[in-house]
Formats: sequence, structure tokens, C-alpha cells
Amino acid sequence: MKIILLGAPGAGKGSQATKIAAKYGIAHISTGDALRANIKNGTELGKFAKSYIDKGLLVPDEVVVGIVADRIKQDDCKNGFLLDGFPRTVAQADALGKLTAIDAVININVDFSLITARITGRRMCACGETYHVSTYKSDVCAKCGKPLYQRADDKEETVKERLAVYEKQTAPLVDYYKNAHILFNVDGNKSIDEVFAEIVETLEFVNSTNEIFDGIKKAKK
Ligand code: AP5
Repeated sequence: MKIILLGAPGAGKGSQATKIAAKYGIAHISTGDALRANIKNGTELGKFAKSYIDKGLLVPDEVVVGIVADRIKQDDCKNGFLLDGFPRTVAQADALGKLTAIDAVININVDFSLITARITGRRMCACGETYHVSTYKSDVCAKCGKPLYQRADDKEETVKERLAVYEKQTAPLVDYYKNAHILFNVDGNKSIDEVFAEIVETLEFVNSTNEIFDGIKKAKK
């Protein structure tokens, strides 16, 4: 299965992506994580990307399209993959469409009033775990014991810019994929487990529909 997770910053894409990838045994591809790994490793790409990320702006399309094009060719993507944070512009969606076909786009809808608190309260661990200060009171990771930290772009002033960028450059993808008849909306205002249950229900529906279409195609041959 090839899935896109769409949603504003802080909608819960990363939290859901980890759970979906584990349940369906598919690769989790996060362009944000890939860019942050480059920043951490001090690569030229990382230095270039940091100048955009720290301002809350999108990294140029050709950079992220290149990352995704290389990544989806790898062996662990043979059974499918989940794209988290990509595409983010119509140009990126067009480029992806030339690389591969997508089965479903899950759009996580969250009220903007909840988003700032979600993002500014987020704490990260180097191992990839994500926490929120309202539900997790320790400053070390429960899984690996490393100290938690706040993402540089999770400060309130940068979040405002990220939301404005989302409205202008990413929100048009909702109609883009609606017109392609592969968009499924889920309510991201609920708890993480409730949102996950709604996504699983949606993906089971997509799977069963695809199986029916595959059966019809085989019967016609
Ligand atoms: P990226 O890392 O993709 O960030 P983002 O899209 O802004 O999304 P976030 O990671 O902030 O939020 P999320 O939706 O994953 O929410 P999460 O699950 O963590 O991108 C960062 C930057 O990289 C971009 O600004 C851009 O510069 C660059 N970039 C990346 N991809 C790019 C691309 N394709 N093109 C160009 N540039 C690109 O949840 C947030 C918090 O809320 C957590 O604390 C979590 O515990 C909590 N939470 C989650 N769900 C719930 C829930 N249901 N109820 C209560 N709390 C919840």
C-alpha cells in the first residue's frame, strides 16, 4: 500500500505514521526527519535546508523530490510506504505522480486553535520518540533514557509562519487529491488512539476496494 499523510504542522502526522507503518509493515518516509538528519550530520544539504526550516519556510521542491525519489527505490519500500510531510506543494505532488501511483491520501483535519499548543509542547528524543509536556512529565525518553529536546522550529513565532505557509502552499493539495478521488478525511481533534482507529478503518476500506478492482481486472483477462 502506498499512502500519503496530509495535514497541517502539528496535525499528528508523525504520531500516526509510526503506528501505521508498524501495523502494515511498510516504510515510513518523513521528509522532515530526513532533512533534520542531514542537519544533525552537518551535510551541505543539511546546512542549506536549515536556512529554510528555521524560518518556517519550505525547502525548495527539487531538494525534497530528490530525497523521496531516491528513498522509494530502496528495498524496504517494495511492500509499500507511507509519506509523512510530502508532498507539500502542487509541484511536489506532480513530481510524485510521475514517480509512482498512490493508493490513498489520509488528510488529518485539526482545528488551528489546538495546533500551537500541540507543537510548542512537543518534546523529541534522538531515537525518534515524540512526547507532549501535557501528558509526559519527565525530561528523558521512556524508551531509551536520552534527554528530550525541543525542535528549533517549534517556537511560537516560527509556528505562526509554518501555519501560514501550510495555508498558502500545502492546503491546495486537499482539492488536488479530492479531484483524483483518493482523498480520505479523518478527524484529528480526537485522541491519538481514536485518530489511529479511524485511519485503520479507512485503510481497510481502501484495501478491500482495491482487492475488488484487482479481482475484476483478473476476471476480464
Ligand atoms: P515536518 O517535520 O514534516 O513538520 P510538520 O509538517 O510541520 O509537522 P510536525 O512534525 O510539526 O507535526 P506532525 O503533524 O508530525 O505532528 P506530531 O505527530 O509530531 O517538517 C519540518 C520542516 O521541514 C518544514 O517546515 C519544512 O521547512 C521542511 N520540510 C519537510 N518536508 C518538506 C517538504 N515536503 N517540502 C519542503 N519542505 C519540507 O504531533 C505534534 C504534537 O502533538 C506531539 O507532541 C504529539 O504528541 C501531539 N499529538 C499528536 N496527535 C495528537 C492527538 N490526536 N491528540 C493530542 N496530542 C496529539
